[in-house]
Amino acid sequence: MSLPVDLTKRLSARPKPTRDGKHSVITFADRPSIEDWLRLHSESFLGGRAPWPETRFRRELLDRLWFSPEHMWWAISNDGDRPIGTITLEVDGDAGQIHWLMVDPAARRSGVASALLQALENAAWDAGVRQLSAETLSTWAPAVAFYRRHGYQAPPIADRAKSR
Ligand SMILES: CC(C)(COP(=O)(O)OP(=O)(O)OC[C@H]1O[C@@H](n2cnc3c(N)ncnc32)[C@H](O)[C@@H]1OP(=O)(O)O)[C@@H](O)C(=O)NCCC(=O)NCCS
Repeated sequence: MSLPVDLTKRLSARPKPTRDGKHSVITFADRPSIEDWLRLHSESFLGGRAPWPETRFRRELLDRLWFSPEHMWWAISNDGDRPIGTITLEVDGDAGQIHWLMVDPAARRSGVASALLQALENAAWDAGVRQLSAETLSTWAPAVAFYRRHGYQAPPIADRAKSR
């Protein structure tokens, strides 16, 4: 059975920016192609089948009141300018919600998602966010392992009761 898993992390200092040189990170303000997001989404969540139409991307992201082009990051491979990963941040006061993290299957386990998360955490800190949350599924073992590796944990029981 697949259950939602909420993971959260308190930011207590500005995260350290790191560069591994394997890819660069841009934002949606740099005008990457929406088609590339749809391709990554199809490969990551739909087994490469039936990519969403652009209208769905608009509904899920561009049309959301919280969406900011500066808060959506893309990893671009250094060997051919290919988008290989993406992540989006929703800011709500001092709380931030992570959305739509995904990495091209051929580019996984090489630090792409880590670089994207680092860009997000730095921008979140600069925007005054001190608590970051991500929702994933218990059956998505790589995502759960990834967030735990980066210090995200189940919220304390008192916080869980408050959010009900
Ligand atoms: C989860 C995901 C984004 C990770 O992307 P990635 O670029 O491969 O992650 P990184 O290379 O930065 O991994 C950093 C660490 O996370 C953990 N991790 C990542 N993938 C893992 C896997 N398949 N199994 C176990 N641990 C994993 C490891 O600790 C890893 O460090 P290591 O490689 O030194 O052991 C990617 O697997 C993906 O796109 N999955 C499908 C979409 C998805 O589930 N998105 C999240 C929705 S909530």
